[in-house]
Amino acid sequence: MLDLIDKHKIPSHVAIIMDGNGRWAKERDKDRLFGHQHGVISVKEVVEGCAEIGIKYLTLYAFSTENWNRPENEVKGLMELLVATIRKEAESLNKNGVRLWVIGDLDCLPENCKAELLEATELTKDNTKLNVILALSYSSKWEITNAVKQIAEKIKNNELQVDDINEEVFASFLTTKNFPDPELMIRTSGEHRISNFLLYQMAYSELYFTHTHWPDFRKKNLYEAILNFQNRERRFGKISEQLY
Ligand code: FPP
Repeated sequence: MLDLIDKHKIPSHVAIIMDGNGRWAKERDKDRLFGHQHGVISVKEVVEGCAEIGIKYLTLYAFSTENWNRPENEVKGLMELLVATIRKEAESLNKNGVRLWVIGDLDCLPENCKAELLEATELTKDNTKLNVILALSYSSKWEITNAVKQIAEKIKNNELQVDDINEEVFASFLTTKNFPDPELMIRTSGEHRISNFLLYQMAYSELYFTHTHWPDFRKKNLYEAILNFQNRERRFGKISEQLY
C-alpha cells in the first residue's frame, strides 16, 4: 500500500471525523467508553502514519460543541481519557517532532483538562515535523459566529474598516488561522455528514467516507484514503483541460 502512494502528491492537511466508537463498543456488548478507549489506539496509529508519509497537519475532531449534550458519565469519561492520554503521550509526541494544537471553545473544558492541554502545547511548540490539531468543544458555527463578533468589535473600535474585509482577513479570525485548509477530510463509520466541522475551511476539500469504525482504523486505512485522494482530479471550479 505504502509503495503505491505518490510521495509528491501528499496532502499537507488531513482532517478526520473519528466516528463509530459507540457502535464499535455496542457490537462487542461493551459500554461506549470502551469504544473511546480503543479509539485512542487509532489516534496513535494515524499520528504515526501521517508522520511517516510527510503529512504536515492532522486535525482530529475529538469533541464537538454538541457532544456536551451526551450522558454525563460519557462526557466525564471522555475528558478523563483525554487528560490521561495527553499526560501519557506528551513526551513521546515531543520526541517525535509533533507539535500539538487545540482549537475550540476551551473555556468550556474542565480546568485540569485545559491545564494538561496547555502544558502539552507549550512543551511541543518548537516542533515542526507534524502538527496535530485537536478540535475540542469545537463547532464551525461557534467558530464563525465568534469570528464575526471579533470583527464587529474591531470595526466598532475603528481598528478595521469594512472595505478591508476579504476572505483572507476573515480566515485570520478563525481558530485555524495558523493552518492551511485541509485538502482531504476523512469520516469513519459510514455517516455522510460534515457535522459542524471546519465548514469554511473545507470549501474545496475532498471528502472520503469509509464504513470502518474509528477503533478499527489503522495506518493502512489512512493510506487507502490518501491513495483514493491522489486518484481524484481537483479542479477548483476549472475544467479538466485547464489543469494540465
Ligand atoms: C465519535 O464516536 C467519537 C467521539 C465523539 C470521541 C472521539 C474521541 C476519541 C477517539 C478519544 C480522543 C483521544 C485523543 C487523544 C484525541 P461516537 O461516540 O459518536 O460513536 P457512535 O456514532 O457509534 O455512537
